[in-house]
Amino acid sequence: KIGVLLPYSRVYAVLGESITNGMRVVFGAEGNRAAGRPVELLQEDTELSPDVALRKLRKFLTSDHVDFVVGPVSSAVAAAIRDPIHQARVILLNANAGDNALTRERCSSYIFRTSFSNWQTSYGLGAWAKQHVGGTAYLTGADYAAGYQIVGAFKESFVAAGGTVVGESYVKLGSTDYAAILAQIGAATPALSFSFFAGSDAVHFVKQFAEFGLKGKIRLTGAGFLVSDDILESQGEAAVGAVTTLHYTRILQNPPNMEFRKRYQALTGRPPDVYAVQGYDTARVVVEALRQTGGDTADSDRLSRVIRGIQFD
Ligand code: PHB
Repeated sequence: KIGVLLPYSRVYAVLGESITNGMRVVFGAEGNRAAGRPVELLQEDTELSPDVALRKLRKFLTSDHVDFVVGPVSSAVAAAIRDPIHQARVILLNANAGDNALTRERCSSYIFRTSFSNWQTSYGLGAWAKQHVGGTAYLTGADYAAGYQIVGAFKESFVAAGGTVVGESYVKLGSTDYAAILAQIGAATPALSFSFFAGSDAVHFVKQFAEFGLKGKIRLTGAGFLVSDDILESQGEAAVGAVTTLHYTRILQNPPNMEFRKRYQALTGRPPDVYAVQGYDTARVVVEALRQTGGDTADSDRLSRVIRGIQFD
């Protein structure tokens, strides 16, 4: 039994759907079995709320008795469920939430990333942008942990490389109107704008960046969620020219990715995106872990040791 704790509503709804579909690609190919045991996905919508997620996690733990928890998407939700997961000694496969602390000061032997840390998504871009794009930057992000951590990692390497931050502002998660910060970015005339926005926030921000006439004057950069495969189509021309970093693109031409694309497309009628591949990796960990324990999920310390050694392409 896998307790799937993801957003299926609001700004990150599509992210939750993609992760779930990525898992379905793997479990479907395995006949919905792992090491001979039937795999059951119990899906709950976090609604992006730490309180809602905590309530649903409690249900997974006390009445469903799940063997794994998968999720969440939001760093704020991840921070809230960390202690209950650790205390319950249940394996959490973190299929998205980048909260840095989960693999630093709040790490747990029951928590694994099948995704990324917030720091990883943007630290590399800071020094590169200083060297190849320009020396002044305006930083923006969604106003919660992921925004601060992703923008902070970019800033750390951009400033260390000699760049200057000319302004920084944060906007409520789930905003549809970015006029106020776009006016500030325009007035500051930086060489580049760096942002963390994802899901429908990223669609609105990137489109309004172009509508405001900033595209072509100020280089649009960000963590790759800003123009990821799930939203590129809705952004259209507005996304062209953006410079971003990410751990996945659907155009990778290696055999495992080409196979994954084909299977994901057949299942969903859509090409995959970064969230889908995180779901795919998550499900592969489940299947491989059960293979190695002969289907035994009763001992989560054993599962934890096994998961630490799992490798695949
Ligand atoms: C996060 O809250 O950690 C988060 C959410 C959406 C993303 C990336 C990170 O695309």
